[in-house]
Amino acid sequence: MAFTMFSIIVLCLAALTAAQCPDYTSYSANPHPPFSSGTHNLSYQRPSPSCRTFNSSYVEATITRLKSIITDPDLSRLFENAFPNTLDTTVKWTGHAANNSAEELAFIITGDIDAMWLRDSANQLQSYLPLLNDTVHELSSLYRGVINLQSRYLLTSPYCNSFQPPIESGLQPNSNGASDAVTPSYNPDIVFECKYELDSLAAFLEVSTNYYTATNDLSFFNRFQWVDAVQAVLNTATSMMIPTYAANGAVNQLPYTFTTDTTDGSQTLDNKGTGNPVQNNTGLLRSAFRPSDDACIYELFIPANMMFAHYLNTTSTILFALGNFNLATQMTTLSASLTAAITEHGIVSDPVYGNIYAYEIDGYGSRNIMDDANIPSLVSAPFFGYLSQNDSVYQATRKVLLSGDNPYFMRGSVINAIGGPHDGLGYAWPMASIVRILTSDDDDEIYSTLKELVGSTDGLGLLHESINTFDQGDYTRPW
Ligand SMILES: *[C@@H]1O[C@H](CO)[C@@H](O)[C@H](O)[C@H]1NC(C)=O
Ligand SMILES: *[C@@H]1O[C@H](CO)[C@@H](O)[C@H](O)[C@H]1NC(C)=O
Ligand SMILES: *[C@@H]1O[C@H](CO)[C@@H](O)[C@H](O)[C@H]1NC(C)=O
Ligand SMILES: *[C@@H]1O[C@H](CO)[C@@H](O)[C@H](O)[C@H]1NC(C)=O
Ligand SMILES: *[C@@H]1O[C@H](CO)[C@@H](O)[C@H](O)[C@H]1NC(C)=O
Ligand SMILES: *[C@@H]1O[C@H](CO)[C@@H](O)[C@H](O)[C@H]1NC(C)=O
Ligand SMILES: *[C@@H]1O[C@H](CO)[C@@H](O)[C@H](O)[C@H]1NC(C)=O
Repeated sequence: MAFTMFSIIVLCLAALTAAQCPDYTSYSANPHPPFSSGTHNLSYQRPSPSCRTFNSSYVEATITRLKSIITDPDLSRLFENAFPNTLDTTVKWTGHAANNSAEELAFIITGDIDAMWLRDSANQLQSYLPLLNDTVHELSSLYRGVINLQSRYLLTSPYCNSFQPPIESGLQPNSNGASDAVTPSYNPDIVFECKYELDSLAAFLEVSTNYYTATNDLSFFNRFQWVDAVQAVLNTATSMMIPTYAANGAVNQLPYTFTTDTTDGSQTLDNKGTGNPVQNNTGLLRSAFRPSDDACIYELFIPANMMFAHYLNTTSTILFALGNFNLATQMTTLSASLTAAITEHGIVSDPVYGNIYAYEIDGYGSRNIMDDANIPSLVSAPFFGYLSQNDSVYQATRKVLLSGDNPYFMRGSVINAIGGPHDGLGYAWPMASIVRILTSDDDDEIYSTLKELVGSTDGLGLLHESINTFDQGDYTRPW
């Protein structure tokens, strides 16, 4: 009896505390003590323990360990706030499939939007990959949950990029507020947004590879719908090899089209939703949108072709191990032909820099020389494993992209980094600075880039989405 009373009180307190958890978007836009003792006086930004959405003893142990290793108080605080942020704030629901109680599911929201992106959820978990070492690890269940839910999404609407909570969660679907007209049509109770992005498909292969490489848990991949989802990924990607015109000049009907009412040219597709014309014979895969969710200007988007080629390779290892030689061979064959096509069509000659990778091409000779902060980008190609950072074409490309010769390299007194059309001109993305660090062996470059990152959070101690290069108080997205 006493125990029951006690339990009720504990439950009431828990409910009360949960109800009082602040909205993190406004919470993270304001400073909270204790402040770091460094020159930037950085705020503490972790939610109170009872408001955190997932607890991991491995992550806590890592934060404690690194506090004694990172001696700069500001950098230490930035790590302490940012590293656990996905677990602290975005694990909206975990559970099991209604039709299979062994099938774990995890719904990871992107941040300030209550929807799960294929690309974002794969990369949100990637931060914890170095800690993942076995199948009983608390983070391994999150990985399996994300892979299972992504499989379900891809078998339902493989051209879409962002999804609603699974029915089992009891969470309400949200509207994206836009008036999108998309073929094929989709169920808005399942899909949040349907922008066809080749890198979203690659992200599913990426998160699968990451889990397999870290845990060696082969049997997981045969247990649920994963193999069917891989087949769906291949079918969808290759359906988008279709050129704009048939051999006799007739306009091909595309498997995917998208239009919406917008005043922003990067949010919709030209030519009644089919995009700008793409020539036959390149062997590359189309992507309608970029990883920024902005429209491609030329749909033969090189970074996503690179990423897809790489993760086809790595994922084929799982299928070979499962004995599915047919699917595995389809994947290695496509990986090899994409790599050849990227080399043949994606490398272009620049009068100053020599041979460099183009960001996008159309097969007619048009090329877009730029980079965008979002991954996959050209600068991130060694990070996701497509090539070595010593590759001479990559090094020449990097030189262009980290200079004023990249139309989206944003310069200023606060931070210098690649940006993109998504947040607009004059806004640099910290994510691009991180990729620059991860793809460099040059200590001076790493040091100065890190220094800008630590010094451009407006004292808030979290990495923003983008920052006005001359005014750190003017940023998009606090967390
Ligand atoms: C640190 O920032 C907080 C919040 O803006 C402020 O109240 C405090 O005075 C600052 N401390 C120092 C030493 O600048
Ligand atoms: C995380 O741990 C805290 C106690 O430290 C607890 O209040 C909270 O409910 C836990 N969160 C989850 C999602 O289990
Ligand atoms: C289980 O249910 C989900 C949600 O309705 C569905 O998408 C999935 O295909 C089902 N799984 C199987 C194996 O039928
Ligand atoms: C995984 O890492 C944890 C924490 O470092 C350690 O306790 C555990 O023994 C490791 N498991 C394996 C299988 O190495
Ligand atoms: C594309 O080009 C190849 C090789 O030139 C040709 O065999 C094929 O019929 C073409 N397809 C279309 C749809 O034009
Ligand atoms: C794919 O694997 C083959 C064989 O191991 C290798 O030669 C090739 O470079 C890999 N391609 C990519 C894009 O990872
Ligand atoms: C790149 O080249 C440097 C110097 O030549 C070498 O130390 C480094 O190991 C190389 N890195 C890779 C990834 O090949």
